[in-house]
Amino acid sequence: MTQCIHTVAALRTLVDGFHREGKTVGLVPTMGALHAGHLSLVRRSMARCDRTVVSIFVNPTQFGPTEDFDRYPRTLGNDVKLLSELEKEGEPEILAFAPSVEEMYPQGFDTYVTVGGPAKPLEGQFRPTHFRGVATVVLKLFHMSRCDVAFFGQKDFQQVQVIRQFTRDLNVPVEIEICPIVREADGLAMSSRNRYLSSDARNRALSLSRSLRKAAEKVRAGCRSRSELEAVIRAEIATCANHKIDYIAIVNPETLLPVDENLTLPVSILLAVKVDDTRLIDNILL
Ligand code: PAJ
Repeated sequence: MTQCIHTVAALRTLVDGFHREGKTVGLVPTMGALHAGHLSLVRRSMARCDRTVVSIFVNPTQFGPTEDFDRYPRTLGNDVKLLSELEKEGEPEILAFAPSVEEMYPQGFDTYVTVGGPAKPLEGQFRPTHFRGVATVVLKLFHMSRCDVAFFGQKDFQQVQVIRQFTRDLNVPVEIEICPIVREADGLAMSSRNRYLSSDARNRALSLSRSLRKAAEKVRAGCRSRSELEAVIRAEIATCANHKIDYIAIVNPETLLPVDENLTLPVSILLAVKVDDTRLIDNILL
């Protein structure tokens, strides 16, 4: 049975014990409403590390004032049940860490991690305080869990680059492992926010992953023109009624800056598109 704890003190007592026994600790930071994408990271951590801590915390500092913090799904009981189901007979249980907002940000909290470079474009333009909130909470979670390795999904590709940047810059002794995007059978990238979609909107949202597949096919067929790839993606997304494109970006995977018209691989294609009222992101590394 997954043990669920709510305080930093209880977490420190447990992880200090793991370290005394010489055990490695893997951390999987999440905001809960767990799905198969999250669970793939947990499985990876269990395969690599002796003990796995899964944090479940809807982090207020990474949401903008008009964003969905209040209505973000909170399903702690079910999350703990899903984690318990991953545990195998005779193996150590997963530790779920679900602090309150007051536990994470006590009265007087006033220090933030502001990342430059990869935090600036794309999500940084559309959600100006987002990565400051992500970097701050992730660094706190690294310290609280004293993890050796932390696992993140390629689904949030820019987030991984931001986390890599600050761990490098601040000499944080944590290894970052990136795990592939888990998709539904029809291609939709799994996301806790997919539950906001009506079944009709969900069908229309398939145009995002379809557009990335079409771009990948074009690259496989030899296309190296940024504008041609962009046109293919834009045309596919245009088949989706009631959408708004925040960005379609064909970028250098390290810097997240736009590539030249005549591109050389590798490139990342990142999308952020609103379908009805739900903002979705997806990406592919080519
Ligand atoms: P959340 O959106 O809950 O995602 C937690 C982790 O699961 C992230 O590393 C994310 O990239 C990964 N993930 C989500 N969907 C995935 C999918 N379909 N396939 C593979 N991995 C997937 O990202 C956050 O929370 C927060 O910003 C957090 C890092 C926890 C900081 O608050």
